[in-house]
Amino acid sequence: MNFEEYLQSRIDEIPASRVAEAMRYSLMAGGKRIRPNLLFAVLKGYGINPEKGNNLAAALEMIHTYSLIHDDLPCMDNDELRRGKPTCHIQFDETTAVLAGDGLLTYAFETASQTDIKADELIRCIRILSESAGPAGMILGQDLDTVETIQTEDWNKLEEVHHHKTGDLLAAPLMIATAMAEKDEKTIQTWKSIGYKIGLAFQVQDDILDVTETPQELGKTNSDERNSKITSVSIWGIEKAAEIMNQLYDEVCMQIAEIKDFNSEVLVNLIRGIQTRNK
Ligand code: IPE
Ligand code: IPE
Ligand code: MG
Ligand code: MG
Ligand code: MG
Repeated sequence: MNFEEYLQSRIDEIPASRVAEAMRYSLMAGGKRIRPNLLFAVLKGYGINPEKGNNLAAALEMIHTYSLIHDDLPCMDNDELRRGKPTCHIQFDETTAVLAGDGLLTYAFETASQTDIKADELIRCIRILSESAGPAGMILGQDLDTVETIQTEDWNKLEEVHHHKTGDLLAAPLMIATAMAEKDEKTIQTWKSIGYKIGLAFQVQDDILDVTETPQELGKTNSDERNSKITSVSIWGIEKAAEIMNQLYDEVCMQIAEIKDFNSEVLVNLIRGIQTRNK
């Protein structure tokens, strides 16, 4: 079963309700599926059938989608367009959007728990998933992103925000696939540092696209300026930010090519595609 069919089948299993409808609406709205694709690319690089990763890839996409639903709420970025459609709280209401996010977060772990691999391997994967998404990971990033103290034009501080709000959930698929390939802890940590670099590059790029693209092109409202956000662009300007981004992606591709017993072709192609995205 391909990944989109698999995601659809997971959502079809939830009993019909308002919250189920909202979960389906946001999950199936047409995201780029970058986190699942990273997981599949690393599995392929290690010679593992990517279909084995469907549950964990779905879990990652559910967690990512929940983070976007909550990120768009009026109490956070207050955005009205996401994945080319009205944001969840605009299409439904705020109560439903909060619950749809909660539903996707919990359903992610239910889905992950049904992965057909050895129990100790699965626990390792679920631990990576929860640490990446939780209060030392993405949630910490979103907290830092929205607290007063980070509102200063300090690149080191912004890097820390980017590492957590974006890097942790982009590192997770690399680490999970490596755990599924039964590699040691040191190799998982190497992938974590690669994931952080991809995350930093990806968020710098997201900040650039927020000012260079229209909402129609992006499929989401560009709200950084309206929200007086400190971003890579507010610190560096577009040109220098783009230079930093390209250098990070280039470094990442070189590092990946050096990983032992790993066929880097699919992953490097995926990353080069991300590097040239315009949404
Ligand atoms: C958007 O992520 C949020 C960030 C971390 C920058 P994506 O650009 O991967 O969003 P979708 O999944 O394609 O909608
Ligand atoms: C949010 O970063 C990252 C998340 C954890 C959701 P942004 O607020 O910049 O993401 P967009 O631009 O709304 O997609
Ligand atoms: Mg935000
Ligand atoms: Mg946002
Ligand atoms: Mg953004």
